[in-house]
Amino acid sequence: MLFPALILPLLPLALAQKCPIQFDGRVANRLPLEAFDTNASPYNPSYVLGSNQKWSSVLKFPSVNASLFDANVSKAVEVTVNDQSIFAPSADNVQKGFRRAELLPVSVTGTDASTTGQKTIHFSVQKDAARPLNSSHEYQLFFLESNDYSTNQVTLKYGTIIGGKKKEADMLTVTGNVNANPVKTVFETRFTPGVWHNFGIVLDFSAGTTQVYYSTNQAPLASTGKAVTNSVSGQGQYHFGILKKPIGGGSDLPHSGYQPSKINEGVIFGGIFAEDSKNGCVSLQK
Ligand SMILES: *[C@@H]1O[C@H](CO)[C@@H](O)[C@H](O)[C@H]1NC(C)=O
Ligand SMILES: *[C@@H]1O[C@H](CO)[C@@H](O)[C@H](O)[C@H]1NC(C)=O
Ligand SMILES: *[C@@H]1O[C@H](CO)[C@@H](O)[C@H](O)[C@H]1NC(C)=O
Repeated sequence: MLFPALILPLLPLALAQKCPIQFDGRVANRLPLEAFDTNASPYNPSYVLGSNQKWSSVLKFPSVNASLFDANVSKAVEVTVNDQSIFAPSADNVQKGFRRAELLPVSVTGTDASTTGQKTIHFSVQKDAARPLNSSHEYQLFFLESNDYSTNQVTLKYGTIIGGKKKEADMLTVTGNVNANPVKTVFETRFTPGVWHNFGIVLDFSAGTTQVYYSTNQAPLASTGKAVTNSVSGQGQYHFGILKKPIGGGSDLPHSGYQPSKINEGVIFGGIFAEDSKNGCVSLQK
């Protein structure tokens, strides 16, 4: 008999083992939309959205079931774009070739620990049948943009990828570094409607690799394959939302090319957070 009273209380802790959280972008059930215009949300109130737009008019709280990592505590948030979603980082840099609305976790500075060591970026996405994307265009729904803005080290794309091979357009595609030639497709799956698509993207900043975990609805995440070599150096910021690229636009996509008018498009997000995956720790469910 070896002090069972001391050992037993440890068991529930061990069973509920979680990886340490790096940033938590999950939206508390009680958080109002207006919080996103202030410092009271997990996201930067000023970036990245159309000049003269407010997050409280860009975001919606859709009525969908909570995603895998939101269950009972946090809720889905929908990011929308319309004709006003034109980001202007400065007066002489008006990005009229893009339509953009991307949430940036507020603790991510571009040089913080979220882009060192081993981290897993978690998020879920779902279509909004009332605000369909246009698969003739290329979208980025998630990306890491390097701190010098020279590349995106990992992306989740949708639609017709500019310069990509001709293929089915209604797909979610995780790519490696967009400056690689060719750009690596790490994972792809059809963006089926009415379903949560859950991602856990493991970024090993020491080894220079990327691995994708994936599931739908409430199923636990599962690995989709081994970690692949991918240049993830350069630190930077994680973007969650909609970056819609133009048709045409040549070598200056932000400022040229064609964007149809009177658009009303959205993507529903849930369960955005990053965890520390050193020693291989990856949460497969809540
Ligand atoms: C929500 O979840 C319930 C139970 O899992 C399921 O029956 C229902 O179809 C889901 N609703 C939506 C809108 O996905
Ligand atoms: C959420 O609540 C439901 C009942 O309301 C319960 O069945 C379920 O286990 C809870 N899930 C989590 C992850 O706590
Ligand atoms: C989709 O985009 C193409 C190219 O910009 C445009 O011609 C078309 O009208 C758009 N479709 C819808 C349904 O908006």
